Amino acid sequence: MTVEAGSNTMNDPIFPVPKRLLDSKSSPTPYVDSFEKYQEMWKQSVEDPDTFFTNLSKELLSWSKPFQTVRSGGFAEGDVAWFLEGELNASYNCVDRHALATPDKVAIIHEGDEPDSVRKITYRELLQEVSRLANVLKSLGVRKGDNIAIYMPMIPEAVVSLLACARIGAVHSVVFAGFSSDSLRDRIVDASAKVVLTADEGKRGGKSIATKRIVDQAVANSPSVSNVLVFRRTGAEVPWTEGRDLWWHEEMAKARPYCAPEPMNAEDPLFLLYTSGSTGTPKGVMHTTGGYLLGAGATVKYIFDYHPQDIFACMADIGWITGHTYIVYGPLVLGATTLLFESTPTYPTPSRFWEVVQKHKVTQFYTAPTAIRALRRLGDKWLEGYDLSSLRVIGSVGEPINPEAWEWYNEQVGKKNCAVVDTYWQTETGSIIVTPLPGAIATKPGSATFPFFGIKPVILDPTSGKELEGNDVTGVLAVGQPWPSMARTVYNNHHRYLDTYLRPYNGYYFTGDGASRDKDGYIWIRGRVDDVINVSGHRLSTAEIESALILHHSVAEAAVIGGHDDLTGQCIHAFTTLKPNIEDSEGLEKELALQVRKVIGPFATPKAIYCVSDLPKTRSGKIMRRILRKIVNNEADQLGDTSTLADPSVVEMLIDKVKQSS
Ligand code: WT7
Repeated sequence: MTVEAGSNTMNDPIFPVPKRLLDSKSSPTPYVDSFEKYQEMWKQSVEDPDTFFTNLSKELLSWSKPFQTVRSGGFAEGDVAWFLEGELNASYNCVDRHALATPDKVAIIHEGDEPDSVRKITYRELLQEVSRLANVLKSLGVRKGDNIAIYMPMIPEAVVSLLACARIGAVHSVVFAGFSSDSLRDRIVDASAKVVLTADEGKRGGKSIATKRIVDQAVANSPSVSNVLVFRRTGAEVPWTEGRDLWWHEEMAKARPYCAPEPMNAEDPLFLLYTSGSTGTPKGVMHTTGGYLLGAGATVKYIFDYHPQDIFACMADIGWITGHTYIVYGPLVLGATTLLFESTPTYPTPSRFWEVVQKHKVTQFYTAPTAIRALRRLGDKWLEGYDLSSLRVIGSVGEPINPEAWEWYNEQVGKKNCAVVDTYWQTETGSIIVTPLPGAIATKPGSATFPFFGIKPVILDPTSGKELEGNDVTGVLAVGQPWPSMARTVYNNHHRYLDTYLRPYNGYYFTGDGASRDKDGYIWIRGRVDDVINVSGHRLSTAEIESALILHHSVAEAAVIGGHDDLTGQCIHAFTTLKPNIEDSEGLEKELALQVRKVIGPFATPKAIYCVSDLPKTRSGKIMRRILRKIVNNEADQLGDTSTLADPSVVEMLIDKVKQSS
């Protein structure tokens, strides 16, 4: 594999910590307020993690039974465990203790799809709702350790669903509501989910989404599902299967508004979240209770510099890890007010985000580079007249942020008065692992800067696996020692967990990303070095899209690669050869695009599909995707050695085909 060095190592502009953050009159003093303090804390966190994380776990979490052993296991066997004998309940930590201390504090602000539809839920109300749903689940026979699928729009009931599962020790598996029924079915089947929690319809950007119908199609072929619990979001007529389907409001009305939280071992699973890898079917990444919750809380506290009066707004979807950690578990474990956004950045106008910030006096705002780029392109006028002065920390996540977008975010949104945190992490890391800290780390646009507490990042030579020490190095990014919130396994597939993360480079956790450490020690993420592509921050596997295409009766072979896209970061290009006797007809490419939408979901739709007479293959028949990548990205003049191709003449044909289509 190759990692390309970027052009940033010369003289990058450095942005110091904004003065306003350190000036305690206009905002709370950051918890970490100098680079020296950061270094000292980081050093302790990696050199003496037992002391560091014991203290933090006592400060941030409530344990029903204390732990004796801070860390055990390791990368060799993949048997990492934290806080071994300890017991705690995630729902108790996120709800009860705040409902007791600050019952009237708003836990969730729901900014509905329509700008005038705001719902606020206090901690007291949240405890009642979570308890009721926990009791409903129990009445349906759900027990500790059972898996529950959640396929829901961005409504407070989605948050309630996660916490209700956690309360009784059921393991939630949230499936992003943009996934197709086939994808939902695969995830339900893999996890043998007993119950599906859903809604009649979703609402996004003024459009309705037929959520329940999609669930029906998925569940028709999922024998493990005994019940589907349906929240009435729009009141639309939906198909109903008697005996299996139940109305949320009817069941909730019968349930008692208190349910005792189930004491869970720190290492009991909290949730599964399916994510794409470079090969095969999506993996059910498993996170456990104690370490994950600690990572979630610690990162919200230090990276977003969360203080008790803050309003925390993460604009992600609950269906991805960002939503799990930074809408639900991180903010709530600290007793924060978290904002849940049901709409899109441009509905009804591209001012929507700024309207939300102004209306709710948001202090931390967290979104993805793709949204920042799209809004930047639409023009600064959409920000005019909005009061964004409540903001202190603005974050970016999901893909590398280009310096132009970073600077626009800093100037137009942060007014050069906010910390901009480019946060790097993954579904598998549970919480942010490389990031600036608002009061401590001077930033460079495009760099995720330095490791968070407990993280020992290393850059490895991709071929030899040797650590590249010192500065000014480029290689693949790995982590040198276990940290609390790392994923513990792949559901029912531990060897896949080992093969993907722990075996590629013995003694390290392998991220799958390329990275550099520049002359000043700043880390720059270069993007994936495997066959994972990142479209608008959505993680997709080229292999999955290829399998979806091959399911079509016309397709013989498919090769999918990531092209560069100014707006979405990467975009999907698919090359297909057709079966004998099938002609490339007008409309076929559209049909193939639909096929991908149907099998995976709309967000996986290829930007371009080329039906070609042949693919570039080696003599042994291996498809050389590198060549397709270069052709699509206008680098056909740098194809390198094509002599290993079985038929070098395909290259011209492919170049012509791509030219014709653009
Ligand atoms: C992949 C993980 C966990 C956040 C949401 C995505 C890319 C994530 C950054 C960043 C450069 C980033 C990496 C990573 N990525 N954040 N700040 N800079 N790249 O989670 O779906 O598990 O994807 O997203 O390639 O491996 P995910």
